[in-house]
Amino acid sequence: MDLFDISEKVVAVTGATGVLAGSLARYLAAQKAKVVFMGRNARKLSEAMEGLDESEHMACVCNVLDREALESAKEAVMKKYGRLDALVNGAGGNMPGATIAPEKTFFDLDVSQWAEVVKLNLEGTLLPIMVFGEIFKAQKSGSIVNFSSMTAQSAVTRVLGYSNAKAAVENLTKGLAVEFAKKFGDGLRVNAIAPGFFISNQNRALLTNPDGTFTARGQAVINKTPFGRFGNADEIWGAVHYLISPASKFVTGTVMAIDGGFSCFSGV
Ligand SMILES: NC(=O)c1ccc[n+]([C@@H]2O[C@H](COP(=O)([O-])OP(=O)(O)OC[C@H]3O[C@@H](n4cnc5c(N)ncnc54)[C@H](O)[C@@H]3O)[C@@H](O)[C@H]2O)c1
Repeated sequence: MDLFDISEKVVAVTGATGVLAGSLARYLAAQKAKVVFMGRNARKLSEAMEGLDESEHMACVCNVLDREALESAKEAVMKKYGRLDALVNGAGGNMPGATIAPEKTFFDLDVSQWAEVVKLNLEGTLLPIMVFGEIFKAQKSGSIVNFSSMTAQSAVTRVLGYSNAKAAVENLTKGLAVEFAKKFGDGLRVNAIAPGFFISNQNRALLTNPDGTFTARGQAVINKTPFGRFGNADEIWGAVHYLISPASKFVTGTVMAIDGGFSCFSGV
């Protein structure tokens, strides 16, 4: 038995037009998994799937906060494949309005923006699990991989709402790992990855200058990362592959850091 065989597994990936989940979705397709690329924008989805065989894989235009759209996506997946083996919740991220600018304090925080970022990351993880999890419940099998971040376990300045949301995503991961195992058996697993700092569209301007040098914040991150660099999108592939493969079949409720040592380093 090949513990790491994920060929023929049907894997739904939300946020598949994004930097991390998009790169991951293409990797999974290259491993011969059947990948459901989920995103809000049809044009971006077809770009993300460029060159892939659409009879093997599929695109679902879907907002992760729209339960009806998620239900339609679930129906389309079941119609095409008749099953689902894994759900990767890659949609999420920070929002500029929900941050605390350097010259501001907590008391200036825009609570409605704070609520938006919590909604996207927390409800945008919970709702796909609620909808696609029905398939896992019926099958008595399925692996869920959520996206946390370094902001969940220790304070990262300025990104309060995002941190609050990712901490809740970790808590949800553990709660559902227990809930699903107790109610539906050991075939249903829920884990998360916690990427360190990867350059994406959302954080590029925060971490790097237009000339490619680091901002003060970018340099502070590098100083606290023993590897001395940001991550590359391909460095999350192996962890997610493991978490959806039979190699991890006794693993649930874990949060795996992929961070070049950021989380284990005091900075001194
Ligand atoms: N880049 C990093 O350093 C980093 C670090 C830790 C965690 N993360 C997390 O990794 C995940 C992917 O982030 P990324 O860095 O690739 O950013 P990204 O912006 O490239 O990808 C996020 C994707 O989510 C999609 N999205 C946003 N709102 C949505 C909605 N309502 N419905 C459906 N899709 C929606 C976006 O369109 C985008 O495609 C996020 O959860 C992010 O919080 C990123």
